Amino acid sequence: MADPASERDTSGISFEFNDRDFRRACKMIYARAGIHLADHKRDMVYSRLSRRIRALGLNSFADYLDVVEEDPEREEQSFINALTTNLTSFFREAHHFDALREQLRKLPRGDVIDIWCCAASTGEEPWTLAITACEAFGSDTPPVRILATDIDTNALTTATTARYGNDRIADLSIERKRRFFLRGSGPNEGLVSVKPFLRKLVEFRQLNLLSPDYGLRQRFTAIFCRNVMIYFDKPTQYEILKKVAPLLAPGGRFYAGHSESFAHALDIMQPCGRTIYRAASDAR
Ligand SMILES: C[S@@+](CC[C@H](N)C(=O)[O-])C[C@H]1O[C@@H](n2cnc3c(N)ncnc32)[C@H](O)[C@@H]1O
Repeated sequence: MADPASERDTSGISFEFNDRDFRRACKMIYARAGIHLADHKRDMVYSRLSRRIRALGLNSFADYLDVVEEDPEREEQSFINALTTNLTSFFREAHHFDALREQLRKLPRGDVIDIWCCAASTGEEPWTLAITACEAFGSDTPPVRILATDIDTNALTTATTARYGNDRIADLSIERKRRFFLRGSGPNEGLVSVKPFLRKLVEFRQLNLLSPDYGLRQRFTAIFCRNVMIYFDKPTQYEILKKVAPLLAPGGRFYAGHSESFAHALDIMQPCGRTIYRAASDAR
């Protein structure tokens, strides 16, 4: 769940939360999503999981974690959704979209271009990719397919709905707002939605980067994997990079977040721009 400003628990009901509960929750989210929670995340874990404990009418963390383990159909996904952080925005780290625009413009015309956004969160990033593709090709129907995936089903619901508060696009140029968004009216006053031609370019799907096999047969010209690897430890990052690198098309680029670096995985990914990588096998 996204909003760090709303982390505080305001219900007045508190649950005992001891070291054992915290360690157990950390182990469980690590096993399921690869997310490594440091000690300073303790308050965050308390506040996010207490909402679930309350929603299920339970009395303790131990009972809640038992339900997640013993009845995964019922609660495992909500447990994962609760502990992901979905912070994102349109044109976040904008230099990557300039680089992608250049990359797209240089490609030979003809084939359909596949792009994968593998931590799509609430959708702002894949929609930005779609906007960039339209701008690169000067067309509302660029030859681009964007696959947008995330582990968090709540975030994916927002992404698919493609409706956002006006403030989310406040920094976009007037031209972009007009070309790519519809302004809501009546009950949708204050909201904007992504135009239908943009929606046609993006397919959303749930995918856990920890899965042994992503089941993807396409080769991607660009993989946006930004601000998700920071949640994983180095061995997990390495395993993910091993699975992702072969999915890059020749000349393909892997876009990482501003604080992510893969110096420990130079045998898999080599830097070739500002937090941009290519497969080591492609560089040889
Ligand atoms: C901070 S957001 C980054 C969003 C976007 N990529 C950006 O840079 O603005 C991190 C996203 O990674 C997703 N995530 C965390 N663990 C994941 C996993 N194991 N597989 C797929 N997505 C994961 C979260 O659900 C969350 O939406």
